[in-house]
Amino acid sequence: MSRFPWSDDYATGNWVIDIQHRRLLEFADLLFEALDTHRTVDIATEALAALENYTRYHFAEEEAFLASIRAPGLAKHRRAHASLILDVEAMRFNLVSRHPGVGAQLARWVLTCLVPHMQNEDMASLAITKGTPSVLRQPLPSTKT
Ligand SMILES: [Fe+2]
Repeated sequence: MSRFPWSDDYATGNWVIDIQHRRLLEFADLLFEALDTHRTVDIATEALAALENYTRYHFAEEEAFLASIRAPGLAKHRRAHASLILDVEAMRFNLVSRHPGVGAQLARWVLTCLVPHMQNEDMASLAITKGTPSVLRQPLPSTKT
């Protein structure tokens, strides 16, 4: 069972961003499971690396999109992302140094930082795209000649 299930309450309405947010929760789930079932530190470290890499990838994609639509408050949004990444780095440090409680730290991060970020900053930033096709929603150019 998923520890961090997706909810339609998290949907921003931008399908690309929403798919990436679902993936973020799935990577968080994998890490939580690795920690919860006491897999080796190597497995948990790999799961955390996957979460960290995907988090960086997603934030970069989202920031590029927000820049392309000239979303207001982008500098503040970037700082929120940087802070969320620092949290993941702190988890990695704690895991590598065998600090107990990384699972609880992860659950806190997802439920009190990541999800509220999606529901507040992301939704606010993407609200201006509601009802109008966004750049990411445009169909690929036809290859017919
Ligand atoms: Fe964001």
